[in-house]
Amino acid sequence: MSAEKQTTWSYTEALPFEDEVLLRARERSHELGVAPVSTGVGAALTVLAASSKAQTVVEIGTGAGVSGVCLLRGLSRQSVLTTIDIDVDHLRAARQAYSEAGIPGNRTRTISGRAAEVLPRLTDNAYDLVFIDADKPNFAVYTDQAVRLLKPGGLLIVNGALDNGRVADPAAREPLTNTMRQVGKVIRENDELVSALLPTGDGLQLAVKLARR
Ligand SMILES: C[S@@+](CC[C@H](N)C(=O)[O-])C[C@H]1O[C@@H](n2cnc3c(N)ncnc32)[C@H](O)[C@@H]1O
Repeated sequence: MSAEKQTTWSYTEALPFEDEVLLRARERSHELGVAPVSTGVGAALTVLAASSKAQTVVEIGTGAGVSGVCLLRGLSRQSVLTTIDIDVDHLRAARQAYSEAGIPGNRTRTISGRAAEVLPRLTDNAYDLVFIDADKPNFAVYTDQAVRLLKPGGLLIVNGALDNGRVADPAAREPLTNTMRQVGKVIRENDELVSALLPTGDGLQLAVKLARR
């Protein structure tokens, strides 16, 4: 990355203000060895959640709740976040973050399990927003599931779409980099979706499921 691009990236990541609730959730993330979304991604999630007017949201990769708090802060009081994680300690930390953020318990549904086993049990065309942030090798599987779960007009958000800058480097051929490239390609080539790739954080792949025309 050029020095100017690095400065721009650092500037945009340093801009969002994070309160004590998010800072404590970040601290717990680091204690548990979880990588939370960046500050820029967190702010983008709040804006995207608010603009989508989503009522039903699925998150794959709860972590210690940083992204969940950011999503919930953009959502209306009637909305429900269903969030999936394989690790019960992470889910416990996330519940603590939601509680500290003043989110009533009935607005979050925390599901413990492997996303590949949990997602097929969720209903087709029932969700307004799906956020993918766990288990990169399976992102292609989760993307397929997300398209199935989304209502027409629903929003898909995939975190880490640039794989630390490697996706843009044609010489980088690591399996994870190839997976992220493939996920982007499948999304771009899906006629059911309109999409955009934002360089925020480590890359946010956005896509909206079109109503059938
Ligand atoms: C990058 S962290 C999520 C961070 C979170 N989105 C945040 O910003 O606070 C990835 C999470 O996915 C979980 N995870 C890893 N493999 C998983 C799988 N196969 N199914 C469900 N969750 C998984 C990990 O336990 C970890 O908490």
